[in-house]
Amino acid sequence: MLRFPDGFLWGAATSAYQIEGATGVEGRGESIWDRFAARPGAIADGSDGAVACDHYHRWPRDIELMKWLGLGAYRFSVAWPRVFPTGRWDVNVPGLDFYDRLTDGLLEAGIEPFVTLYHWDLPQPLEDAGGWASRETVDAFVEYVDVVSDLLGDRVRRFITHNEPWCISVLGYAEGLHAPGRRDWPAALAAAHHVLLSHGLATAVIRGNAPDAEVGITLNLVPAEPASPSAHDRDACRAFDGAFNRWFLDPIYGRGYPEDVVADFVGAGRLPSVELPFVADGDLAVISAPTDFLGINYYSRAVVRSDRVAEADNAPRAVHLSDERTDIGWEVYPDGLRQLLLRVQRDYAPSAVYITENGAAYDTAPDEHGRVHDLERQRFLHSHLAAALDAAREGVPLAGYFVWSLLDNYEWQEGYRKRFGIVWVDYTTQERVLKESAVQYRAIIAANALPAAEPHQDHFQRRILRR
Ligand code: FCB
Repeated sequence: MLRFPDGFLWGAATSAYQIEGATGVEGRGESIWDRFAARPGAIADGSDGAVACDHYHRWPRDIELMKWLGLGAYRFSVAWPRVFPTGRWDVNVPGLDFYDRLTDGLLEAGIEPFVTLYHWDLPQPLEDAGGWASRETVDAFVEYVDVVSDLLGDRVRRFITHNEPWCISVLGYAEGLHAPGRRDWPAALAAAHHVLLSHGLATAVIRGNAPDAEVGITLNLVPAEPASPSAHDRDACRAFDGAFNRWFLDPIYGRGYPEDVVADFVGAGRLPSVELPFVADGDLAVISAPTDFLGINYYSRAVVRSDRVAEADNAPRAVHLSDERTDIGWEVYPDGLRQLLLRVQRDYAPSAVYITENGAAYDTAPDEHGRVHDLERQRFLHSHLAAALDAAREGVPLAGYFVWSLLDNYEWQEGYRKRFGIVWVDYTTQERVLKESAVQYRAIIAANALPAAEPHQDHFQRRILRR
């Protein structure tokens, strides 16, 4: 058995818009995802989060599932438009009460609530006033965090300010793939800055309301390597790593924005000049306020090839991508998690790290006996946990792991077709079915250890035959 450190926190993660449903009840306001999902062609299956897993009504039973799994913690997000339907000023008490009850329900079940304050569902009226590209959204976020942390701060020990600032800003404001669906690079870079600034200001507010709580931020980080040793590919890799990882890590850890990436953005016409117009005096000090942990979401790596030279003139590819892909097309590359954790520790030395998301989309459906034999997901979890443990043994202060996700859910622009859950959800009946990976995860949690051997088909068949 491969043992995890004592006190290791085992969890599962979700987010409000992806599971709650009940978008029109008890005073919740419109979010940018309600609006975006209604746009023709925005979502692969044309769906939205109006019902999702109906967790807003079914949360007590979902807590029963978590208890069965033996989770130490549950990472969920608070929907800002439930708390402030128009984004600011008027608190919607029933919306706030929902998170109060959920928090108490988790604590009664012996499960730590691990709260994300922003997982992408900005109130639409704030977007109408400029969204994250506008500095006023920073003030609105701080007011919202003040209310939530004042209410929950006596019970919640860990808060995450933001989930994945890269996705919020680049997918939402530059590439138009996520809400609010804008395609405007200068707006996206302003949005990224405002998200980081709001993280720093919110950190201070949370510390005031909940002096014993720990505060951190979650980044989606992607380890990158050049496709070949050629100078072009190496430079493309530097640029990718810069825009994706360092653009967020550097300011959070007190280094300001990386100059090479500023130059890349100016060169590409994404910024008018090297003077970053959205950065005011003192912002960088706020953004680098000390945090208690870094949350890392890991799904895959990038192998970067330059497009500055014709493909025919590029050096021969030296790094080959594995054929193993999840249903969403992402390469299965467990060692990337180990490499990433070591790199973050070497370059930024966070005092604690949580893997706040890791998991895989596989569409394995219940068989005729109602069992979900998701062997690929079991192998994915096993190999990634082994990689994370290797990093911990090499000195990374890894404090916990959250599988993405507890339930199959609304996978943003992919709709309901990509299933990441360790629990199957039948969206017609709202029935939940534990997948084999949930059984595996429960055993890992109970043992605080991983079996040395990877799950494979034989184990599986033996288990099925025994039943
Ligand atoms: C992450 C998101 C999460 C989920 C997974 C698959 O980028 O934080 O909500 O969609 O990807």
